[in-house]
Amino acid sequence: MNATGGWERLAPKLAVTNRRVAALESEPERRNSFVSYTVERDSAYADLDGQRLLMMSGYSYLGLGGDERVVAAAKAALDLYGSGNHGVRALAGTIPLHEELEAEVASFADREASMVFSSGYAANVGTVGGLVGAGDTVFIDKYDHASIVDGCRLSGATVTRFRHNDVDHLDRRLAAASPDGVRLVIVDSVYSMDGDIAPLPELRKVCDEHNALLMVDEAHALGVIGATGRGIEEHFDHRVKADIKLGTLSKGIPSMGGWVTGPAELIGHLRYAARPFLFSAALAPAQAAAALESLRILQREPERVTHIQRESARLRALVNAQGLRTQDSVTAVLPLIAGSDEKAYDLATTCRRNGVIGIPVVTPAVPNDLARLRIAVTARHTPEDIDFAADAFIKSARECGIIPA
Ligand SMILES: Cc1ncc(COP(=O)(O)O)c(C=O)c1O
Repeated sequence: MNATGGWERLAPKLAVTNRRVAALESEPERRNSFVSYTVERDSAYADLDGQRLLMMSGYSYLGLGGDERVVAAAKAALDLYGSGNHGVRALAGTIPLHEELEAEVASFADREASMVFSSGYAANVGTVGGLVGAGDTVFIDKYDHASIVDGCRLSGATVTRFRHNDVDHLDRRLAAASPDGVRLVIVDSVYSMDGDIAPLPELRKVCDEHNALLMVDEAHALGVIGATGRGIEEHFDHRVKADIKLGTLSKGIPSMGGWVTGPAELIGHLRYAARPFLFSAALAPAQAAAALESLRILQREPERVTHIQRESARLRALVNAQGLRTQDSVTAVLPLIAGSDEKAYDLATTCRRNGVIGIPVVTPAVPNDLARLRIAVTARHTPEDIDFAADAFIKSARECGIIPA
C-alpha cells in the first residue's frame, strides 16, 4: 500500500481492523473467519485440507442445500432463462418465476401479497427505508439484525432502541415518543446470536395500545419454529398476527434473496419505494427457482421441521447437563458461551481438532464476556451427528477450561 497522500489518513483505520484479526488469528490453526470449507452435498460434513469435519455452524436449517430436486429446479431455470436477468424488476428484469415465487411466499405466509429482493439484507433496508422517514419513529430491539439498523439509518426516521425482549421497556419508549407520524416496531422472530424468540403476543398488545405497526424478521424462524415451520405466528398458535413479515431465502431456504409480505397496498407501495428493489438487479433465475422448489418441499415435508426441533432440544440438553451455557436459546440456534473473544477462538480451534466446526462470534457482535460459538442444528444432522457434536463440544470446553474437567 502506498504510504503517502490519501492512504496516510486512512491507514490508522485499516490498521485497527487488521491488527485485531491478526491478534485473534495469530497462527494458521487459529484461523476461524473466511475459512473456505468444501461442504459435502449429501451430508452435514465438510472438508478442510483433507480433514473431514462436522459442520455445526451452517444456516441451511432445512438441510435442502444439496437436495436433488432443488438443484434440478435451479438447473432447469438456468437452461430456460440463462444466468442473469436483464436488469431491475421494474424494467426488464421480471420473469414468470419471480411472480410464481411471490405468490408462493404470500400463500405460505397467509398474506395478500409479497415481493422478493435479491438478499435478505436488501429486504430489510428496502422495507424500512421505503416505509418510514423524517417525522416517523422506529422502535427496534437492541439485538435486531444489522440490516434492520441500516434500514433505519437510511430512512431518516427517529430510531429508538428498547432492551432485548423487554416489552415493558418498549411500552415506556412508545409512551415517551412523539405522538405524530408512523410508529413502527421491528423485532427478529428468532435472534440469530442467542436463539431466543420474540414475545409476539405481548408485543402485539403493546403495539395496539400505542397505535404502532409490528414488523417481524423471520430469517431464522422460517422452517425452524412453528409446527410446520411457518414461523413466529404458528409458534404462538396463530393467536396474533404481525402487520409486516419479512425474511430471507438464504437460510432455511437454501438460495439467495429476501421477501416481505403483507396487504396488497403495502407491497404495491414498496415495489416503487424500496430502493434496493428498485435500483438493484432482480433475483437471478436459478436462485428464484431453487427458493420456490425449497418452499414447496418444506410444505410437503414438515418432518424436517420436527427433526430440527427435536435434535436441537437434545443437543441443548446434552451440553447444558455438562455445564455449557446456551443463554435463553429455545430454537435451532445454540450459543455455546466461551467468555472472552480469545476463549471463543480457543474453543473453536479445539473443536476443529476434535472433528467439529463451530464458528466463533466475538465483540462487538455480542456483549463483552459473552463471546461464543454460534451453533445451528439442521435437518441434515443425524442423531449420531448430534451425539458426536455434543461429545466434541463438551470435550473441547473441558480442554479449554470453560467447564470443569
Ligand atoms: C435476522 C436476519 N435478518 C436478515 C439477514 C440478512 O439476510 P441475507 O443474508 O439473506 O442477506 C440475516 C442474515 O444473517 C439475519 O440473520
